[in-house]
Amino acid sequence: GWPGRPERGALTHSVVPPNRRDDIVIPRGYEQAVVAAWGDPILPGAPRFDVNKQTPEAQAKQFGYNNDYTMVLPLRDERKALLVCNHEYTDEVLMFPTGKYDAKTRAKIGMAAHGMSVVGLERVGRSGRWRQDKWSFRYNRRITASTPFEVTGPVAADPRVGKVALGTFGNCAGGVTPWGTVLSGEENFQGYFDVSDTVAPEHHASFKRYGVPTTKTKSAREWSIVDARFDLTKTPNEAYRHGWIVEVDPYDPHSKPKKRSMLGRLKHEGATITITADGRIAAYTGDDERGEYVYKFVSTGKYDPKDRKKNFGLLDHGTLYVAKFTGDGASDGLYDGTGEWIPLTSDKESFVPGMSVADVLINTRLAADSVKPTRMDRPEDIERNPVNGRVYVALTNNSDRGNKFAVDEANPIAKSHVRESLNGPLVEKSGNRNGYVLELTEEGDDAAKTGFFWTLFLVCGDPSAQETYFGGYDKSKVSPISCPDNVAFDGHGNLWISTDGNVLGSNDGIFTVPVAGPERGHVKQFLSVPFGAEACGPLISDDDKTVFVAVQHPGETDDATFERPTSTWPHTHPFPRPAISCVWRRDNARVGS
Ligand code: FEO
Ligand code: CA
Ligand code: CA
Ligand code: CA
Repeated sequence: GWPGRPERGALTHSVVPPNRRDDIVIPRGYEQAVVAAWGDPILPGAPRFDVNKQTPEAQAKQFGYNNDYTMVLPLRDERKALLVCNHEYTDEVLMFPTGKYDAKTRAKIGMAAHGMSVVGLERVGRSGRWRQDKWSFRYNRRITASTPFEVTGPVAADPRVGKVALGTFGNCAGGVTPWGTVLSGEENFQGYFDVSDTVAPEHHASFKRYGVPTTKTKSAREWSIVDARFDLTKTPNEAYRHGWIVEVDPYDPHSKPKKRSMLGRLKHEGATITITADGRIAAYTGDDERGEYVYKFVSTGKYDPKDRKKNFGLLDHGTLYVAKFTGDGASDGLYDGTGEWIPLTSDKESFVPGMSVADVLINTRLAADSVKPTRMDRPEDIERNPVNGRVYVALTNNSDRGNKFAVDEANPIAKSHVRESLNGPLVEKSGNRNGYVLELTEEGDDAAKTGFFWTLFLVCGDPSAQETYFGGYDKSKVSPISCPDNVAFDGHGNLWISTDGNVLGSNDGIFTVPVAGPERGHVKQFLSVPFGAEACGPLISDDDKTVFVAVQHPGETDDATFERPTSTWPHTHPFPRPAISCVWRRDNARVGS
């Protein structure tokens, strides 16, 4: 471009400073509005939201709690679209601020508040603003912790799981398939089970590896008092029916959602898809816990863009891999190296001695342990950048790095700096507290290959802390960023990052960063979410007119160091409501500009 003229796709938005406000804070020239909030009636017969008159029946027809992954899919009329999101978990303290509900009613409302929602949207005028649309109401749908799912792939024939699994909960991030279905990752499923007495010993090795209780346990939600399958003394196999990637077809509200067993059983952050050089499907999936692994699935069959339904079984046949990262040494001044995708099983043949195909898929963590992959710092969202072809991996943090987990070149930080209040000093702590964004380049830019190159693109934190690194960019010019969680891309391939658990004394938010050109590494804060919330999504619409942000758990703080203005966002009631908002430029120009 001309000197002084911004490049195409330049991120010229003003910077949102770190803050503790109980609002969505956006750059100058932008506007924002709530699209859907907890309790909104979305199915026929749903009552209006009333915090004092909650019932399980009402909640099953209303927008669920704690929206996390957010996708918007097109309808034929470009002014209409379908919002698809998941509802990760409930916070009973915030959900029941005044009403008196007995334990059984609370459990039933909680079960109905989990799962997923499909909500018809319409564009407001020609702007980037969207709102709920009564004319696409027929697509609206709720999936809860009780909805029947079909288990597909090799595990459906295994007696531990079978062909049907009830409900989805603990869903975190997700992805969209090229055939227009939505994938969602069942993450912290282990916390939903009670144990009334003991668990049969044959389950112990597996349960322990996943943090599923084996001794007498009363979970916080106590769902077993209304549904006995949540008591692992009675039905230990119920634990094996969760921890999967689920697939939902939002265009057919009567379709049965699927649990795709070929993608393995983990604490799945999500799954995102790309197409290999020869037209097959690859799915990346992270296992979000300290010291867990990064996985990839590659399909046997090819994607058919002309016949939507032909693609519906693609995720059931293929090979599941786990990643090993090897550093090339520190002398080049970069944390980088090569890597290998190690095959664990195909749908026909297990590559792990002593474990069947179903064993590998049900106990994927145990199978992976045997091939010695790299223990990562909480691998969360993983997604291929459609513009440069590189794959971006959010590694949120790991307070145990340097202690329980030895450092290596891909996980190099054993001491890092945090801030305990907005203007407090930097304090050194053990472990990797602020996380990384890793950039992975598949050999030959082909997701079917088993070799790759990698580099740590960002070592997050306050830029004045010596351990941080921003792709080589001038650290005096970047925003502080802490605990990257989800990644997204705009139409120019700029990376958008949302954060979860910021330890720099300010609210979580959404950040932009170019990945190419002279501005590579120039991290800027685009938005901050209200007090106590985590920034989820984010989603940049295909026309680059809208940023969707899921505001999860506003008002939830368990950190004693937080001075505590209780959130009331979005300020419709005297208590907080998780909600999805859209952000657009007042002049309708591209978001990020
Ligand atoms: Fe639900 Fe991985 O955070
Ligand atoms: Ca997440
Ligand atoms: Ca190096
Ligand atoms: Ca997270």
